[in-house]
Amino acid sequence: MDDDLFIFVIDRDGAEHKLEAVAGWRVMEIIREHGLPIKAECGGACACATCHVYVEDEWLEKLPSQRNEEIDMLDEAIDPQDNSRLSCQLIMSEELNGLRVRLAPEG
Ligand code: FES
Repeated sequence: MDDDLFIFVIDRDGAEHKLEAVAGWRVMEIIREHGLPIKAECGGACACATCHVYVEDEWLEKLPSQRNEEIDMLDEAIDPQDNSRLSCQLIMSEELNGLRVRLAPEG
């Protein structure tokens, strides 16, 4: 178990949360497991865009590149930005220890 991995999540009120993370979990699952408000309606199937997050710039290039499905789905997200990602498409790993994301607005 990688019990020393963390991510930082800034909620929609601007509060930062340090969340314990597990390698192999989707970032969306980590956020949801800690009770932060993320709808993730499709359960991680890249089919809803309600797990939309903004990734802090320094982390962007460390993330796996987007698949076409994610790019298409982000087109339908609310207020997409250059640093938008779907958190269900980001798999936690040692390399992402300390990842910092901000929850995108909800519809
Ligand atoms: S949970 Fe639906 S696209 Fe990520």
